[in-house]
Amino acid sequence: MTAPVVTIDGPSGAGKGTVSRLLAHRSGWHLLDSGALYRLVAHAGTLAGLAPDDVAGHARLAAQMTVVFAADPQGLEERILLDGREVSAALRSEGAGAGASRVAGWPAVRAALLDRQRGFAQPPGLVADGRDMGTVVFPHAPLKIFLTASPVERARRRYNQLKEKDSGVSLAALSLEIAERDRRDSTRSVAPLVPAADAIVLDSTAMSAAEVADEIFAHGRGRALWP
Ligand code: DC
Repeated sequence: MTAPVVTIDGPSGAGKGTVSRLLAHRSGWHLLDSGALYRLVAHAGTLAGLAPDDVAGHARLAAQMTVVFAADPQGLEERILLDGREVSAALRSEGAGAGASRVAGWPAVRAALLDRQRGFAQPPGLVADGRDMGTVVFPHAPLKIFLTASPVERARRRYNQLKEKDSGVSLAALSLEIAERDRRDSTRSVAPLVPAADAIVLDSTAMSAAEVADEIFAHGRGRALWP
């Protein structure tokens, strides 16, 4: 590993994305949004006209696609380019999340993304957001966080995020979709969503993103990762 890594894993809607962005911004470290990579593979497959169950085709795209993460000037929303084309809005939908969860169950796709993810670990450091950052991708990370929140709170957060962009979204439907995605992500045979043995488990149900970031920052300071 070429740089220290802080891993932030957990289920959908636990606040990983917001917290990871806050931490990366505050520390000046790089950010890996690994969920976006799985969303990109599913999206690239749709654009290429692949059958939804074409494992080898999706694995090929995972290895070959050109991806650029471009931070906006505030550094709080990333723009994502797939083979030169802006796809940020398309990737945010719950449909893209479900597609990601489908391709994420295939070992060939996970293997094809492994080196790409590890390549993000560059000085001065990396905040890595995902499901298997602490268990598989960066098993030697000096600080691992597993972020959870109650299912009701997670559905509410996702709803608030999505309703700005998609007026057709409903809280009841979203709760069911999130529960199904969590079930699939936690029960798959390869890299299932589980806390690493050495992860700190944080329940963010009653905390703001800033409070969670402060707590993680304090853990990082305690391990001399940040001044
Ligand atoms: O974090 P997210 O909602 O963007 O992730 C989308 C899906 O991708 C999620 O349902 C499971 C999968 N995923 C994964 O399997 N491993 C990761 N490291 C990140 C995401």
